[in-house]
Amino acid sequence: MRNRLRAIFLVMSSLVIAVGLLYADLKKGYYSPAQLGSVQQAAPIELLPDSNYEVAAFPVPAVDLAPGDGLQDVQIYCNTCHSPRYITMQPPLPAAMWESEVNKMNKTFGAGIPEENARKIFLYLQAHYTAENRKR
Ligand code: HEC
Repeated sequence: MRNRLRAIFLVMSSLVIAVGLLYADLKKGYYSPAQLGSVQQAAPIELLPDSNYEVAAFPVPAVDLAPGDGLQDVQIYCNTCHSPRYITMQPPLPAAMWESEVNKMNKTFGAGIPEENARKIFLYLQAHYTAENRKR
């Protein structure tokens, strides 16, 4: 009886050890040094040059900007990434801040607005959207 129990115990423990070793062997591949520090991601979908992409119509809320010199530049250049409503959403900003705001769109966010137009835009914003002159 004792020997039988011992035999069962030995067989069971060898099984546990065997499964453990097998699992460790399967697992070790995931941590091989070649992959350390690399981020794995799926290959991007290949876009076909003749594909058509469509978006449904979406509402664009009208933005009531102050009329004046430079408004057209704002409408042309401040429309591509977000609504020009971002201007009217701000509290009245100090004049210098409008200049740095336009520079930020250009340098940090890559708006690529030509210098001359960027200047017209911040002059327009300084003329209509500071605490001293803001009407709407
Ligand atoms: C290249 C894309 C791009 C263009 C073009 C662009 N913006 Fe932005 N703008 C951003 C991003 C990105 C943010 C910040 C993220 C957000 O809030 O959506 C932002 C935020 C703002 C804000 C909110 C305050 C802030 O600094 O986050 C204002 C005001 C603003 N833009 C004004 C303008 C004006 C004025 C123009 C035209 C001169 C302009 N933007 C053109 C990308 C752009």
